[in-house]
Amino acid sequence: MTALSGKRILLVIGGGIAAYKSLDLIRRLRERGASVRCILTAGAQQFITPLAASALTGQRSHTDLFDREDEADIGHIRLARDADLVIVAPATANLMAKMAGGHADDLASTVLLATTLPILIAPAMNVRMWLHPATQRNLTTLRADGVHVVGPNDGAMAEAEFGPGRMAEPLEIAAAAERLLVPSGPLAGKHVIVTSGPTHEPIDPVRYIANRSSGKQGHAIAKAAAEAGARVTLISGPVTLPDPAGVTTVHVESARDMLQAVEKALPADIGIFAAAVADWRVANAGEQKIKKKDGTLPNLSLTENPDILATVSHRAENRPPLMVGFAAETEHVIEHAKQKLARKGCDLIVANDVSTAGGVMGGDSNTVHLVSASNVETWPTLAKTDVARKLVERLGSLTEGAKS
Ligand code: CTP
Repeated sequence: MTALSGKRILLVIGGGIAAYKSLDLIRRLRERGASVRCILTAGAQQFITPLAASALTGQRSHTDLFDREDEADIGHIRLARDADLVIVAPATANLMAKMAGGHADDLASTVLLATTLPILIAPAMNVRMWLHPATQRNLTTLRADGVHVVGPNDGAMAEAEFGPGRMAEPLEIAAAAERLLVPSGPLAGKHVIVTSGPTHEPIDPVRYIANRSSGKQGHAIAKAAAEAGARVTLISGPVTLPDPAGVTTVHVESARDMLQAVEKALPADIGIFAAAVADWRVANAGEQKIKKKDGTLPNLSLTENPDILATVSHRAENRPPLMVGFAAETEHVIEHAKQKLARKGCDLIVANDVSTAGGVMGGDSNTVHLVSASNVETWPTLAKTDVARKLVERLGSLTEGAKS
């Protein structure tokens, strides 16, 4: 089996008892055709030797940031670049903390800070260290930074304790690496642009016009598309959600910023515009904070924002072949959605009822109708994450159909 044939993996081995399993991981990765180069932290060398790692990789192992021979030979910056994926296994609590904090006080942490490659970590530590709020905080930070995580598993630990903290098995780590390096799934090889969240339109430097969109649906779609193998660019207005793992997230404020970010992200195979873009902005927004003056109210004049979905759907060149819009309606949902489909020039509209009674805005579930020029399909009420998966599945079969 050579699923990883030609792929170069940099394996950072941290200082934990699970380091012995990293030797098996090297074998598993090489069996799949990958070449592996190792960095061992000082802690790792308490458990295994650089020589053991080199014997299995067939390449010199690296240990020291200030190794003269190393710097002359390959150098830490090249180490951080000359690979397709970095795996950190075992990722100890300390190594995770250093990564989350951006520390660079040894070769492993310096390379991890210097690299722009995808990173997969396999945490391994005592159950109490894993469950400690500091480690969980670091995990959230790392995920938000786009770091991929495999494990840890539940199980008996070296200290005769039981619980989460056991490093994922080498075969599981190799499979996770394979998923990252060889995208598969219904949207493999596709570039998907998703817009999500509200936009903020400034009134002055401290005030803005906004809406109640939470971004939950759009973010769930971006995540589902990435899980379906797509390369995803998520263009998000201001939300309180973390950036989804494995997705390139671009943060914007206003509708005009969002349009600019979409233009920059093109070309794409699919556009899914789930953002609740503000229809208007304040034409006479103040450069300075507007002061309260006795008896006089500020006179805000509104002007129309660009319609991002319509702009991209109507263009002759560089239009994603599949354009999906959302319709947030409070009445005559399907009728309005059909009109929007025609007016905006997109291929599909996901219509939903956002009247307050439905609790869709900010809520976790959604009842949607999938509207195309020839068909209306009503889905049962589903969690937003399930709406996302079902939509992505549908788009996968539509793009598949377009190919044949
Ligand atoms: N949309 C957009 N740019 C805008 C307004 C809307 O890209 N300036 C997109 C949304 O992301 C969504 C679709 O258009 O996919 C419909 O958004 P919606 O707010 O329901 O429609 P509006 O065009 O604003 O129409 P109305 O407010 O009159 O219902």
